[in-house]
Amino acid sequence: MRGIDTVIIEKRSRDYVLSRIRAGVLERGLVDLMREAGVSERMDREGLIHEGFDIAFSDRCHHVDLAGLTGGATVMVYGQTEVTRDLFDARDAMNGIIIDEAEEVLPQQVDSDRPYVSFRKGGKTHRVDCQFIAGCDGYHGVSRTVIPSAVRQIYEKTYPIGWLGVLSDTPPVSEELIYVHHPRGFALCSLRSATRSRYYIQCDSSAQLETWSDNRFWEELKRRLPESAAASLVTGPSIEKSIAPLRSMVVEPIRYGRLFLAGDAAHIVPPTGAKGLNLAASDIGFLSQALVRFFTEADESALTDYSAKALRRIWKAERFSWWMTRLLHQLPAADSFDQRIQKAELEYLFSSRAALVSLAENYVGLALE
Ligand code: DHB
Repeated sequence: MRGIDTVIIEKRSRDYVLSRIRAGVLERGLVDLMREAGVSERMDREGLIHEGFDIAFSDRCHHVDLAGLTGGATVMVYGQTEVTRDLFDARDAMNGIIIDEAEEVLPQQVDSDRPYVSFRKGGKTHRVDCQFIAGCDGYHGVSRTVIPSAVRQIYEKTYPIGWLGVLSDTPPVSEELIYVHHPRGFALCSLRSATRSRYYIQCDSSAQLETWSDNRFWEELKRRLPESAAASLVTGPSIEKSIAPLRSMVVEPIRYGRLFLAGDAAHIVPPTGAKGLNLAASDIGFLSQALVRFFTEADESALTDYSAKALRRIWKAERFSWWMTRLLHQLPAADSFDQRIQKAELEYLFSSRAALVSLAENYVGLALE
């Protein structure tokens, strides 16, 4: 990258990474970043530009006209798995190094100017000496724990529910996404293409995947959809089925010495609104700019500012994901007052352009600053 040598050390195999299904809504900032990085060719060919989506409640769909509310902004429906595939291909094309299936990966001496990463592979211990380490090893990774506990503060909230997701080669029930608020629980109709659908339903956090046959999933989804959508839903065998927990988490700061956290290593959002990948990408956008500045102009200020700058955006996306989650789900702890407030909030949303503009500008992605 711009004459800066990089090595990727990855715990999993490429096949494993490419088999995971994640969200599929890219904010305009990520679309621009993909184009700037020269990795947008397939996304621009196959991705679907969405100008709006629906929120359904009380058996009716209510439209959110993203483009109309934001002065023309849209989102791109393109699976995170496909983004990952394109990045692997670009990495191969530049003969970039990826060490995969690395075990016991650990950033070391990060508060010195000679940090390194140690790992085990093929029965041997290896080390990569470097100037900087980007800790992009996800929520379960070790990078975050390398920041001493006296320095790091963790803010966390768990929601006692999960999302059960199904991917199927069936035509989507709607061209646009439908987020559904229903007494039986939240549901989401999403898609990957004209022939591939992605659906989710809220489930208990203790739900066992084995107890959810395809048939049971489709029946439950249908019960939550507005009648017109339920009637036109095309079902078929699932090609992937998984349960995702709902959690919010932020660690502060996200820089310690020469270690810079990015993505899920630094923060988790609940899936509602599909902010996880978009936030990871804006972290990396900030970090890569800061590194280029350091190496080309010997200017360290952007690296110094990275944590505070990225966290400002992270907290706004945390707020939005938390808000959208609370707006649309049935949370076990909600009492009858909370339920009335939730109903009032949904009704307010669709009676106020100001409220809809706020939703829309967050959904398409807040400015990168
Ligand atoms: C998808 C996931 C989301 O969390 C969301 O808000 C929208 C779409 C998806 O997987 O397509």
